[in-house]
Amino acid sequence: MKVDFPAVMDTVRVGLLGLGIVGSQVAERLECQRDLVTERTGGPVELTRVLVRDTAKRRAYLPTAAAITTDPAAVLEDPGIGVIIELMGGMEPARTYIERAIDAGKAVVTANKEVMAHHGPELLDLAKRRGVDVYFEAAVGGGIPLISTFKIDLLANQISRIEAVINGTTNFIIDRMARDGAGFDEALAEAQRLGYAEADPTYDVEGWDAVFKLTIMSSIAFRGRIDPDEVHREGIRGLDPVDFRYARDMGYAIRLLAYARDHGDEVELRVHPALLPQSHLLAAVHDAYNAVVIEGDLVGSVLLYGQGAGGRPTASAVVGDVIDLVLSMRKGIDNRIAVDIARPIRVRAMADVRTAAYLRLHVADRPGVLAEVARILGDLDISISAVVQKQAMVEHAAAELVILTHPAREGDLRTARERLAALETVYAVPAFLRALTPEEAM
Ligand SMILES: NC(=O)c1ccc[n+]([C@@H]2O[C@H](COP(=O)([O-])OP(=O)(O)OC[C@H]3O[C@@H](n4cnc5c(N)ncnc54)[C@H](OP(=O)(O)O)[C@@H]3O)[C@@H](O)[C@H]2O)c1
Repeated sequence: MKVDFPAVMDTVRVGLLGLGIVGSQVAERLECQRDLVTERTGGPVELTRVLVRDTAKRRAYLPTAAAITTDPAAVLEDPGIGVIIELMGGMEPARTYIERAIDAGKAVVTANKEVMAHHGPELLDLAKRRGVDVYFEAAVGGGIPLISTFKIDLLANQISRIEAVINGTTNFIIDRMARDGAGFDEALAEAQRLGYAEADPTYDVEGWDAVFKLTIMSSIAFRGRIDPDEVHREGIRGLDPVDFRYARDMGYAIRLLAYARDHGDEVELRVHPALLPQSHLLAAVHDAYNAVVIEGDLVGSVLLYGQGAGGRPTASAVVGDVIDLVLSMRKGIDNRIAVDIARPIRVRAMADVRTAAYLRLHVADRPGVLAEVARILGDLDISISAVVQKQAMVEHAAAELVILTHPAREGDLRTARERLAALETVYAVPAFLRALTPEEAM
């Protein structure tokens, strides 16, 4: 049964699941800026109940009017509550609670990228059948208005490409490595000390967070269902400060790139560290900031930039969704800008993707080595764009050889890497990164 639309001036009651970093900022805005919310939704909005695990815990903001509970049913089954805001995070029980809320005819606002990346299509489908909405602006890019940009502002476009830096933690770490020559562990420790990285940083540094965000954005941009497990993913743990120096000398910066490209019958989706020309918009994204460059056939290139995380920027997106949703409810409109993402989208196999590559080799310091390397690349139709050789950089009178290729098939680049590593004159291939060439960049 669907909760009835509120009459024009009726109070819309809201239940909040989670009162952590984002939840407490959302609660504060709803309670302390009641006039702003009332004015913008055309009537009162009341935060009625809040679900937590531990009622004794200290909070950045403790709601004054709402009841705090540890019983999910008290929120999910309250017939007076028309909107549920889910800010617990993680897959379960968040997914089940969202489903229960929709089933009970309540509209949902969530910031949960993990749930939306894996289960967005079926939750949106369920919501459509129940005649309610699910809003999830905060699930991608925190305070940066990305979902609404795809859902509304770029509706007239065929989106061809998305290039993004969408994980603040990894960008902070990469920035420290590039600026100060810090190693990965040192930069990570600083990020943790300053609150930019979790005690367990796996989710961010291994690229999962960026994959979930890219999946959600791409589902909406390309209008279909994408399995996040099919997105190619590499994290930043293997990055070495020396590669930042070589990249800079060749006119490039390194970023954790989230890349999506429409090929008509399939979509290319990948998250990995990449060399970007210094002139690329994403090369200028520093610290924990995020940026997304979108290419549409009508609009051309659009850049969105801002704070992709943090309690306040994320609460900005959550409360924005609540206001938008309540406004629609008051007007008696549901499924206002429904995005149909049920059509399955095929993801191009990484081996078939075309990309330029950066290879760093430890080679014997003797004549003929470069010719051997060039022959292996040439046999696979991989042409070289730049070469840097440093003598006696490493042990055993070896030299360090850095090669930047022109775009080639990823499968061939991997074969080349294996053949190079097998050469008697190549001691090691410590780095293999992808690159965007200036010609390819938006
Ligand atoms: N933090 C950010 O910058 C950011 C940015 C973008 C999106 N998000 C997303 O926003 C959501 C919330 O993130 P957050 O950083 O605010 O998380 P958080 O600080 O860890 O807060 C989670 C809250 O949920 C409650 N909770 C968790 N599991 C629960 C359960 N099983 N039953 C009842 N309550 C439970 C916790 O209760 P207790 O406090 O009692 O333990 C806590 O209040 C996540 O989906 C996250 O991905 C966060």
